[in-house]
Amino acid sequence: MSKKNQPATCPVTRPRRFYDCTLNEKLLYTSFLLLAGLAYLMALAYLYTSYDGIDGKPGLSVEDVAENYYGNRSGTRLESALRGPMAGYIKTERRDYIVKWLQSGAPQADYERLIKPMLDEQCVVCHSAASGLQLPDLSSYESVKQVANVDTGVSLHSLMKVSHIHLFGIALVALAIGLVFRFALLPSWFQHTLTLLPFIAIFTDIAAWFLTKWDPIYAYTVVIAGGLLGLSWALQILISLYQIWFLRCRVTIESEDNDH
Ligand code: HEC
Repeated sequence: MSKKNQPATCPVTRPRRFYDCTLNEKLLYTSFLLLAGLAYLMALAYLYTSYDGIDGKPGLSVEDVAENYYGNRSGTRLESALRGPMAGYIKTERRDYIVKWLQSGAPQADYERLIKPMLDEQCVVCHSAASGLQLPDLSSYESVKQVANVDTGVSLHSLMKVSHIHLFGIALVALAIGLVFRFALLPSWFQHTLTLLPFIAIFTDIAAWFLTKWDPIYAYTVVIAGGLLGLSWALQILISLYQIWFLRCRVTIESEDNDH
């Protein structure tokens, strides 16, 4: 901003930079940034160990993210078994009948009337406590339900819980890191962008959690926004730490203005 645009009464001051900070401030900022960085790395490690391999494959992937929020709706364990290893124990039309019942949400009324007789006849020989085999019990509604639930991912309720905690928490951390980072000496466009980025990223990330419940394609948005948050914090922290300890004030104030 050029000085002639400022009202005459506005005092012309040079913005504070890290080299204007007292040693006490520098120690405070450094300690905070180091702990915040460590907290972020811990969060990453926690994320990795919590979600790694949800989809059955090692490593945290977009599929894990999709399955966490959207669930695996391709079928229930019962349906996969009926189409796969158990296919030989049931006739096709009976299987299709059970699959239709599953897709309608596996209501109890129909279970008693139509489904239980089929399972009793064809499956319970092996699938009951009496058989002595360690197999899913298929002799009562409650136990059949355990292999008949469609997995729709994290519930909306717990998503709301996690997102409000994240929004409050991350907004405060982003504010604190941003308050330190404002002392950095950088081209203004770069500094402004980097200051806004964590806020935009966290908003997008959390919006995408909800969108992923609706369509798993948004798992990509979750991953990209999460990556942007990490990248912008890493840059803010590393640039700040570097400038706190290594950037020296150049001789005249004009020389700083020339950078803008
Ligand atoms: C002759 C014994 C026998 C009969 C009859 C039988 N099963 Fe099984 N079932 C097994 C065994 C053994 C396993 C575990 C090994 C496997 O998954 O192949 C199993 C596994 C399953 C599983 C668990 C799959 C998973 O996700 O782990 C389901 C569900 C299942 N059966 C359903 C049925 C249904 C429905 C029927 C009737 C149409 C049926 N089974 C009939 C022996 C049987």
